[in-house]
Amino acid sequence: MAVNNKLIANLREDYKAKTMDVQDMLAHPIQQFEIWFQEALAANIKEANAMTLATVTKQSPSARIVLLKGVDQKGFYFYTNYNSKKGKEIKANPKVALVFFWKELERQVRVEGTIKKISKKKSTLYFQSRPKGSQIGAWASPQSTVIPDRKILSDNYQALENQYKDKDLLPLPPNWGGYCIQPHYIEFWQGRSSRMHDRICYTLKSRNKWVIERLAP
Ligand SMILES: Cc1cc2nc3c(=O)[nH]c(=O)nc-3n(C[C@H](O)[C@H](O)[C@H](O)COP(=O)(O)O)c2cc1C
Repeated sequence: MAVNNKLIANLREDYKAKTMDVQDMLAHPIQQFEIWFQEALAANIKEANAMTLATVTKQSPSARIVLLKGVDQKGFYFYTNYNSKKGKEIKANPKVALVFFWKELERQVRVEGTIKKISKKKSTLYFQSRPKGSQIGAWASPQSTVIPDRKILSDNYQALENQYKDKDLLPLPPNWGGYCIQPHYIEFWQGRSSRMHDRICYTLKSRNKWVIERLAP
């Protein structure tokens, strides 16, 4: 059935929930992010830690959702397969972008930064804190490669389940681990009425010196 494009074109929300001004913002964007993230959790937003990760190569940009697994003064952390499409693109160009959208709060956060692998020790700590099924899954799936069918995955999974049946923890796969995105730009967007939204951005000018400015919506 064809989608009704007129209906799509008429989908629109008028945002009225909140307002935002430069003087209300904390000096460091990560502190400000932490406040917004806590508010997203308090609002019971499902998967508030889901974020779009954009990578870019000479050939093409690409984007996908990943889950934020930590944030601190250094940046934003997530975990993945280093040999995946994103892993290869990050290797070719470590400049990436993130986007969070918290619809219930009419908020968006955009991050631009440089991405780095975290230590194997930290990756192992996180990897082994995951449910055993997820640990097996990481070993079983050659993420982003073409596979003939689903059976190859379930065969891999079963073989690993047998191999590790007497163990609670699996070792860290050599091609799996965390990344940290160190931001040089973070923008906070608060929806307002009649598309007159509030946008406040932080730009890193020198080590730890963030400039805070308002952008036109
Ligand atoms: C809600 C959600 C959360 C996801 N979280 C992750 C994640 O944390 N790590 C990951 O590697 N893939 C995650 N994925 C899958 C990715 O979107 C993507 O399909 C996969 O990483 C392969 O991407 P790539 O081929 O661009 O490397 C998630 C997908 C969704 C919809």
